[in-house]
Amino acid sequence: MKFQERVFSGMQPTGTLHLGNYLGAMLKWIDLQKTHECIYCVVDLHAITVWQDPEELRQAIRQVTASYIAAGLDPQKSILFNQSQVSAHAELAWIFNCVARLGWLGRMTQFKDKAGKDREKASVGLYAYPNLMAADILAYRATHVPVGDDQKQHLELARDIAQKFNGDFAAAIKAAGHEDGEFFPQPEPVITGPATRVMSLRDGSRKMSKSEPSDLSRINLIDDVDLIAKKIKKAKTDPEALPSETDGLSGRPEADNLVGIYAALTGTAKADVLADFGGRQFSAFKPALAELCVEKLGPIAQEVSRLMNDPAEIDRVLVDGANRARAIASPIMDEVKDIVGFIR
Ligand code: AMP
Ligand code: TRP
Repeated sequence: MKFQERVFSGMQPTGTLHLGNYLGAMLKWIDLQKTHECIYCVVDLHAITVWQDPEELRQAIRQVTASYIAAGLDPQKSILFNQSQVSAHAELAWIFNCVARLGWLGRMTQFKDKAGKDREKASVGLYAYPNLMAADILAYRATHVPVGDDQKQHLELARDIAQKFNGDFAAAIKAAGHEDGEFFPQPEPVITGPATRVMSLRDGSRKMSKSEPSDLSRINLIDDVDLIAKKIKKAKTDPEALPSETDGLSGRPEADNLVGIYAALTGTAKADVLADFGGRQFSAFKPALAELCVEKLGPIAQEVSRLMNDPAEIDRVLVDGANRARAIASPIMDEVKDIVGFIR
């Protein structure tokens, strides 16, 4: 293994975090802290690819940071910071803008979804967004990236960029002392567990998302007990009882989703949940699920609001994290500049 194992991931400070963010990404982030050097970023540069009110953005950065900490990320152990404080991200993104091809970006489904019908009006940043994401990861030469399923395509692009950079600059990379010609690693997606794609509670064919207009479609990490219970109660289901085996979930997206949520929250597999609840009606399963959500998410919401009472302390955590992040990225960026042919 040539590259030291290092974890990088990030979330956008837009809207409040929801159960999809928590189960699809954060639970894995927390787990990886035990075994790896981890860098977790609040990606504010990504956020402004669509309009953000400045004061709301500032608050959202703090709130996402508070959510990370409340959910169990340890800012002493892991590096926690907001992207714009470390200039390596924007610098490397520019270089990657010149490595990636227009055609590669044109295939990104998230751009197509987010840009909507009138693509001419989308920001240039929204189009180049995956290059910035590749820069986030590769500025630290990170090897593992825990994310939800929706980020798979962006990670494949990051791998393509790493490979093309290594290829385009092979001679300079070797001259800089990397004899095998590999400067950037191929970052590996870590997309595991029973809830890599949490679906809307109102429509099992749509992803749970911050941007979905109906708040009933998602459980936010700051929802109170009554609201969580209400949302689970109103969640769309079908009239059948739960099956006894996972095969029986196919073609039943809403049932599959709720069982996946239960499994992820208890750290088990869907099969284990069905071993307990197979043959029972949703009228029995939903209250159990609501109770579980309240038990797991209630303390997080409380801790977020406690942390938000002291914004200066959150800002201090971010500055400290940014200093530590910069210390890793700076020497890598120095080498990148030498390889590309810049003078410094
Ligand atoms: P975002 O909120 O788009 O910045 O996403 C932050 C992280 O949460 C990424 O790793 C996403 O893949 C993950 N994520 C967002 N929505 C979901 C979802 N509905 N199910 C699973 N993971 C998700
Ligand atoms: N694009 C990711 C999302 O919307 C957020 C992100 C930005 C990210 N940079 C990253 C995730 C680097 C992992 C690694 O969810």
